[in-house]
Amino acid sequence: MARPSWPLFIAAFLSLAVALVSYRFLLLGLDGAFESMAGHLANRRLALLLHVSAAPVALALGVFQFLPKLSARHPGLHRLSGRIYALAVLVGGASGLVLAIGAEGGPVAAAGFGLLAVLWIGITGNAVRLAMQRDIAAHRRWMIRSYALTFAAVTLRIYLPFLIGLGGLDYAQSSIWVAWACWVPNLLLAQWWLTRTASKAARVT
Ligand code: HEM
Repeated sequence: MARPSWPLFIAAFLSLAVALVSYRFLLLGLDGAFESMAGHLANRRLALLLHVSAAPVALALGVFQFLPKLSARHPGLHRLSGRIYALAVLVGGASGLVLAIGAEGGPVAAAGFGLLAVLWIGITGNAVRLAMQRDIAAHRRWMIRSYALTFAAVTLRIYLPFLIGLGGLDYAQSSIWVAWACWVPNLLLAQWWLTRTASKAARVT
């Protein structure tokens, strides 16, 4: 059985950190948190509440689904956690789509976040369908793509300070870039890794 590797540990650390920080909205109380928020989100409280409640659950849970020992030893836990992940993606993605429509960065940012939301739900839904059909190898491949999109929450928060701090852009200008940059490279990297491991396996057999 393959051992979890260091990229998985780094991903787990970053995912948990971003998920916990996102819960400031619930911990501070919505009013307190809204005072610190950009005004454009204040008129979509329900969507933001659903989004900041559900999306961090997907981020925090998803990474543990890839721990080989955990899913082999506790398949029931893997299935339960997978169902919660899928529900969190559905709620987080649908509310993310509502937030995307009025994104601060205008139509280009709206399109980037909107496409991310649609792909997040679609790709995860396909992974769930494959699990229900017991096509575990394909389920795993689609879940890797799904988590690459979930991880956009982390990559966005890595790029944003650089664009604002070093690039001298404001939040609206930065979000035009990060709405795409936070997920397109993640998905391409996941696809590259899947193709590479598949061709390595084909060479061995
Ligand atoms: C992958 C699909 C996702 C989409 C499409 C999406 C979309 C959005 C959008 C459009 C906004 C408002 C940004 C703006 O108006 O400029 C937002 C805010 C937010 N999202 Fe997501 N999001 C996704 C995933 C996540 C995940 C996995 C988390 C987990 C931590 C998360 C946490 C937040 C938080 C906390 C905010 C409030 C603003 C902030 O703290 O930066 N989102 N999201």
